[in-house]
Formats: sequence, structure tokens, C-alpha cells
Amino acid sequence: MNRAAAPPSNFHFHDLQPPPDDFRAAVIAGLRSQPRSLSPKYFYDARGSTLFDAITALPEYYLTRTEIGLLRRYGDEMATLLGRDTVLLEFGSGSDVKVRLLLDALRPHAYLPLDISATHLRRAAAAIAADHARLQVHALCVDYTCPFPLPATLDGHRRAAFFPGSSIGNFEPQQACRLLRGIADLLGPHGNLLIGVDLKKAHAELHAAYNDAAGVTAAFNLNLLHRMRAELDAQVDPAGFRHHAFYNAEAGRIEMHLLATDRQQVRIGDEGFVFGAGDGIHTENAYKYSLDEFGALAARAGLRTRRVWCDDGERYSVHCLQPA
Ligand code: AVJ
Repeated sequence: MNRAAAPPSNFHFHDLQPPPDDFRAAVIAGLRSQPRSLSPKYFYDARGSTLFDAITALPEYYLTRTEIGLLRRYGDEMATLLGRDTVLLEFGSGSDVKVRLLLDALRPHAYLPLDISATHLRRAAAAIAADHARLQVHALCVDYTCPFPLPATLDGHRRAAFFPGSSIGNFEPQQACRLLRGIADLLGPHGNLLIGVDLKKAHAELHAAYNDAAGVTAAFNLNLLHRMRAELDAQVDPAGFRHHAFYNAEAGRIEMHLLATDRQQVRIGDEGFVFGAGDGIHTENAYKYSLDEFGALAARAGLRTRRVWCDDGERYSVHCLQPA
């Protein structure tokens, strides 16, 4: 028998402008452009999300465990700055582990996880609603890079935003500034943003985090080609491509690419693309900031820094920002 548990009564799901199914169009446009590129948001199909979860547990990938360590150590202090009884928005809540560390200290009026992927969002948000019977949970399936409305019933409460994981690093600094400005507008003058930001550090350590010995990051990157085969019926040989990740010091970012090992042909419907040996697809940027650089970016977006927490190794940071 297949019985789905009824969603708890404090759980609400809002499908705002459901993201169009644009993988095919994005792949074709990305392979036609020069240099060839694809947005990292396409990594996260079911297998990609599982691979990302595996990445967060890798010995080389210090980001997730360092951020969780900061939330454990300073969560009470963070909650005090954000204040009680807020409407708490979480940007890109792929996993519910981190926000759970805040909820007890923060005691928000309502929790609003925002994510573009409905399946992941629904599961994680419903679990939180089940575990916090008195917390109203409104899951918003939304592309948070575009403006979106909040449920009107939540007006009149102070707002807080939680943007963990250094996902802000996926955006070009100018786009990141625009996104932060949008969050500042959403928060209003008394709201606060708690945001996780990975820091500049020894290049070898950054390199290792995106070139793990077990090859999980390589599988995550190459999964894009498997996804193209499964969803677009693309003719592409994943064995003909290899994972390439490096720190671009001038730009201050990790770059990930998929490089053809030798001449490769890719076909999608009646579109054909030829790759010479070493030709590639740029699949991700992950910008790294110094504390000062991120503070300056926030200031350009109209946010002043109230406090910053770092681990002892100064590898990772969490910033509390407020509209200036
Ligand atoms: C989810 C964007 C923060 O950049 O570290 C991990 C994604 N890519 N390994 C990151 C990712 C390769 C991750 N972010």
C-alpha cells in the first residue's frame, strides 16, 4: 500500500511562477555561445543533489562543516541579533540541517524556505513543520533572483533572511550586488540578513576542495552530461569529457569546466556541436571573498555589517547585515 503522510496543518506550499522547464533551451543556447557555458543551477537534478550532499561530507570540502560549526558555536548570538518573532526567509534551502540549528534559539513567527526545486523544498519544509508544531511554515517554490510576493498574512512582522552555503559565490559580483539589494528591499529597515561566505585562502586548499581524491566533484560536474542524455536524449559520451576545476586568482573564483579529452561530437535533436581536444563547457564559478571585499560588496548593495563570525582558520565567514 502506498500511503503518503498528510502534510501537517502548519505547512503551506506556494507555487509562485513555477520555473519553466528550460533545460533544453538553456543547453542549446549554452553550447551555441562562445565560450560555451551552462548555469550551475542545472547541476541539481535528483542525482546531482545526492552528489552535492556527498560533496558536503568530503574531507577536502571544508565549507559545509565549517559553516555548521559556526552555527553551533555562535547560533545564540546570531539569533539575538536577528531578534524574536521574525518572519524568517531562507534562500535556497537545499538542506534543512543548517536552519534547524537556528530555529530553537530564534523562535521565528514563521519560516519561509525559498527554493527553485519543488521536490527537495517540499520534503525538507514539511519535515520542519512536523517537528515544530507551532511554527507556520510557508514553502515558496520560486526563482529568488526575480522579485516575488510574500503571503500577505505575514505583514507586520520583522523579517530575517538566512542565505547559507556561500551560494552567493555562484553569482558574478555585480549580480550578487543586485541580489543583495533585492534582499535588503525585502527585509525593510529593521530586518537582518545572515549570510555564509567562503573566504580567499591558500590556493592549494581551494583547489583540493573542488578536486577531491574520491572524484565526487568530478562525478557531480560530469552528471550534467548524463542529465543531457536522460532528459534531452542527447548523444554525448561522458567518458569523452573530464572534470577541470582551478582557482582563477585574478578573478578571485574557482572555475569548473568539462573538457573534451579528444575530438567529441554532441547531438541534441538536430543540433550538432563539435569539440576539439581540450575544448570545454564552463559549468560553474564560485567566487571567494576577503572579509573586506564582502563588506564592500554588501555596502554597495545598501547593507551595513553588524557582525562577522569566522572559524579559527579564517576559512569561512557568516555575516549579519542590515539595510543601512
Ligand atoms: C553550492 C555553490 C556553494 O561553490 O562550493 C561544490 C557548489 N560545486 N563543489 C560551491 C559546488 C562544486 C557549491 N555551492
